Amino acid sequence: MNSTRFNINGSKVVADIPDHNISLLDFLRDTLNFKGTKQGCGSGDCGACTVIVEDAHGKTLAVNACITPAAAMQGKNIITIEGIANQKTLHPVQQALIDFHGSQCGFCTPGFVMALTAHSLLPDAPKKNKREDIIAAISGNLCRCTGYWPIIKAGMASCGVGEAAQLRHVRMWEPQGALKKPHIPENCSGSSDESYQIAQNETMVAQRLEQRSPSDCSRSTIIAGATDEWVAVNQQLEQHETILDISRIPSLREITARDGTIEIGACVTHSELFAYFTEAPYQSSAIRELLTRFGSPQIRNRGTIGGNICGGSPIADWSPLLLALDASVVLKSAGSSRLVHLSNFFLGYRQTSLRPDEYLASVQFNVPQDWSQLSFEKISKRYEDDISSVCAAIFLAHDGDVVQEARIAYGGIAPIPMRISALEAILKGQPLSGIDHGKIKVELDSIINPISDVRASANYRLQMAETMLIDRLALEQKTA
Ligand SMILES: Cc1cc2nc3c(=O)[nH]c(=O)nc-3n(C[C@H](O)[C@H](O)[C@H](O)COP(=O)(O)OP(=O)(O)OC[C@H]3O[C@@H](n4cnc5c(N)ncnc54)[C@H](O)[C@@H]3O)c2cc1C
Ligand code: FES
Ligand code: FES
Repeated sequence: MNSTRFNINGSKVVADIPDHNISLLDFLRDTLNFKGTKQGCGSGDCGACTVIVEDAHGKTLAVNACITPAAAMQGKNIITIEGIANQKTLHPVQQALIDFHGSQCGFCTPGFVMALTAHSLLPDAPKKNKREDIIAAISGNLCRCTGYWPIIKAGMASCGVGEAAQLRHVRMWEPQGALKKPHIPENCSGSSDESYQIAQNETMVAQRLEQRSPSDCSRSTIIAGATDEWVAVNQQLEQHETILDISRIPSLREITARDGTIEIGACVTHSELFAYFTEAPYQSSAIRELLTRFGSPQIRNRGTIGGNICGGSPIADWSPLLLALDASVVLKSAGSSRLVHLSNFFLGYRQTSLRPDEYLASVQFNVPQDWSQLSFEKISKRYEDDISSVCAAIFLAHDGDVVQEARIAYGGIAPIPMRISALEAILKGQPLSGIDHGKIKVELDSIINPISDVRASANYRLQMAETMLIDRLALEQKTA
């Protein structure tokens, strides 16, 4: 049994987690009796379970408690719906939801309140209360009865009142002064129990994996953000004998840019990547597009780039983009490290070339001469918080009219994320104005053979893959 110490709504809590496979949501509701946080889907899709977690840098982030392991909260500050109204007044977001009639049955309301409160605590929050900002902030939350307009209006009214006011309100909550830093070091493992270990460094990971055989992998697993892994725990009732949490290892959380190469540590989250690639000098509209459409704020705040790649999903969004950037991954084990080209990393449906004793340490690629050479497009049933039916990442460099280099990668058209090298070879050296789009379609048809499933039919996927490529070629031709 893991004894976990954290701050919840300002009070220090030391509690035994009955089972290391238990989610933060179950722990809050069943062990600590905080019933305000709701369970809807149990898979990160509805936002009813949203709570706020303060990270090591004091940033307050919305997360889905249903797919966050309770044991991962060791040493963290957590704010739940019970912790944001002080004893006299409601939090401004709560009051606005009442004023604008943003709640009917009320089941989803705690989740919306927490998502909007997290949004209102952003450093630039007062500037972020336009309609589109609020829609983005609640893109991970579903309401089945109110209709979204009253909720959006409440968000626009309450998220504009200023960070200081919002934070003060949260801090005012309890008699002792909530959100005090816990007197618990970030790296506290808190327990000698090995069933859930928070790794402090890469040496610890390598040592733990050294003895792992292929049959041990699901019993003894690595997790980073757990946004993939905990859906399986909840929905397929997967139980892990031991879990190694690598999300706090400083060397896996760095992004470095050196000599024209960017190296991203495996445990950098999507929210951190959004901040990095939407500001100079590495501003990329393709990466912005990918991350704006990636899950929800709750998912981006915990999900990592390493988890996205290692899950080996054919519809993971980062994989095609990284293939189009000609990226490689650094795989490490005790005493060894190897660089693997990403196109050799994916072996089959959710199968990768990671050995049982290896972990992914980082991904690296050369900075493109011009970020506009890279594009990313995602087609999904729902604009927000949905996995791709098909997506395309295309790198196209041309000198005037002549294609110098093309790298074309897709997700959702094969059991693995796939680069279409044969087509790239056809395009290289061709004048953009002379490319026969009909021939490109025929070639693509002969190379890819997508499947039909609940997300899209094979024919739809094929047509979308063609359209995304032809559109990009046509666009480049106009600007050549
Ligand atoms: C509601 C919802 C929406 C989502 N939306 C999207 C989306 O729009 N696009 C998309 O691509 N994905 C999406 N996902 C999937 C998921 O969030 C991402 O793939 C995320 O990046 C996974 O990262 P993680 O750190 O949470 O992985 P985890 O769940 O921690 O791990 C995933 C797998 O990778 C392994 N692993 C993790 N890190 C390492 C490492 N460094 N070395 C070796 N193995 C490792 C784990 O053992 C596990 O098997 C969504 C998921 C949910 C629940
Ligand atoms: S219960 Fe639906 S996102 Fe957690
Ligand atoms: S108010 Fe009923 S689900 Fe939102």
